[in-house]
Amino acid sequence: KDSYQITLLPGDGIGPEIMTATKGVLAALTKRCNFELHMTEALIGGAAIDAKNDPFPEESLQQCLSSDSVLLSCIGGYKWDANPRELRPESGLLKMRKQLGLFANLRPAKVLDQLIDASTLKREVVEGVDVMVVRELTGDVYFGTPKGIDVVDGKELYILFGSSSLTLIHHIHTFITDSIFLGKRVGYNNMIYGEDEIARIARVAGDVASKRGGKLCSVDKANVLDVSQLWRDVVIEVMTKEFPNVELSHMYVDNAAMQLIRWPKQFDTIVTGNIFGDILSDEASMLVGSLGMLPSASIGVSGPGVFEPCHGSAPDIAGKDLANPLALILSAAMMLRYDLDRAEEADILEKSVEAVLDKGLRTADIKQENDGCKLVGCIEMGEAVAAIVSTIDC
Ligand code: NAD
Ligand code: IPM
Ligand code: MN
Repeated sequence: KDSYQITLLPGDGIGPEIMTATKGVLAALTKRCNFELHMTEALIGGAAIDAKNDPFPEESLQQCLSSDSVLLSCIGGYKWDANPRELRPESGLLKMRKQLGLFANLRPAKVLDQLIDASTLKREVVEGVDVMVVRELTGDVYFGTPKGIDVVDGKELYILFGSSSLTLIHHIHTFITDSIFLGKRVGYNNMIYGEDEIARIARVAGDVASKRGGKLCSVDKANVLDVSQLWRDVVIEVMTKEFPNVELSHMYVDNAAMQLIRWPKQFDTIVTGNIFGDILSDEASMLVGSLGMLPSASIGVSGPGVFEPCHGSAPDIAGKDLANPLALILSAAMMLRYDLDRAEEADILEKSVEAVLDKGLRTADIKQENDGCKLVGCIEMGEAVAAIVSTIDC
C-alpha cells in the first residue's frame, strides 16, 4: 500500500501551530519517499465545542474510523474550564479514546544526547535513559462510575446511585453516612479495573518489553488499594504464563515517582494504570528535557490508532510561535511505524529530528543559556526539520 487516509485533529492552544509545522514535515517526507498521505482535518476539544457544541462530534468519530490513522495535537484551554463536564475539551479526548477503543498508550522517554543539558537532572543520571511507559488508557478512575459532586444524605443515595449492585450501594452508603459528609458536598470517582482490562494491557506491555530490554516494572498502589491488588495479581498471572522470559518486577507508585528521578536507568518498560501513567509520563519528560519532546501512540484492538504528544495545549505560550513541534513530529513517526508499517520513513523523521538538534536549533523549552544554540520558533523549527527530511541520508 502506498496511499493512506489520515485524520488530523489540530485541537486547541498550540495545537494548530504544531500541526501546521508537522504537516510541512510530512509533505516533505511523502515527496521524498514516494507514498501519499491524504490528510483531512476534523474537530475535537474546545474547537469542536465552539463549532458544534460537542467536544468530539459524531462526524469526527466517523472520519477517524474511516482513516488508516489519526494524528492529534492537544486540546483544552481556560475558555472552557468552567463548562459542565460533558462540554469540556478533556471530555472530548476521553470520548475519542473510549469510542476508538484505545486502551494502550505507549509513551517513550528516550534521552537524546543533544538535549542532556536541557534536563534539570545531572548528566550522569539522564545520559542513555530509554524508558517506555505503557499506560492503560480507557479505564481507571477516569471512567469509573459512580462519579459526581453532590450534596446527599443517606436516604437519597439509593436514588442517586440507582445501582443494581447491592455491594456497591452498601459501600457507598457506609462511606457517606460518616458524619463529616452529611449535608455537605461530596466529590467522588470510582477507581475500577476489570481483570480483562488489566490482562490486555499486561499483554501489550509484555510484548513491548520482550522487544526492548526484556524488563517490565508494573507500578501500582497494592499496599493500599484493592483495585491495585487485583492489578498486581493479574499482571503476575499474564506475565508468568505468556511472557516467562520477561523479567517482571513491581513497585508502588510513590516509590516509582522517586526512583524515576533518583536512577531512571533502572527502568526499561513500565506498565501502569491510567492515572499513575498520566503522572509518571509527565515526570519522565523531564528526563528528556521537555514535555515538548514526548510523543505517544494510543492503540486499540483493531482500527486506527491515535498518535498524540504527551503534552497539553500549553495556553501560556499559545499563538506566540513559541511551541516545540517535535513531540508531534515524533508522534507522526510513531504513526508511520505502528499504524502504517512504514518503519523506514519513521526512521527518517526521527533521524531528522536529531539532525535539527545537531544543527543547534532549539525552541525556548529546550534552550539553555550560553549553549551556543540558535533560538527558533515553532514555524522555523518545523521548516528546518522538513528541509532535513528532504535531504538526509539513511
Ligand atoms: P500543558 O502540557 O499544556 O503545559 C505544561 C507546561 O509545559 C506549560 O508551561 C507549557 O507551556 C509547556 N509545554 C507543553 N507543551 C509544550 C510544547 N510543545 N512546547 C513548549 N512548551 C510546552 O499542561 P497544562 O498547562 O497543565 O494544561 C493546559 C491545558 O491542556 C489544560 O486544558 C489541560 O486539560 C490540557 N491538556 C491536554 C492534553 C492533551 O490534549 N492530550 C494533555 C495535557 C493537558
Ligand atoms: C494526557 C492528558 C489527558 C489525560 C487529559 C487532558 C484528559 O493529561 O493526554 O496526558 O489525563 O489523559
Ligand atoms: Mn497528561
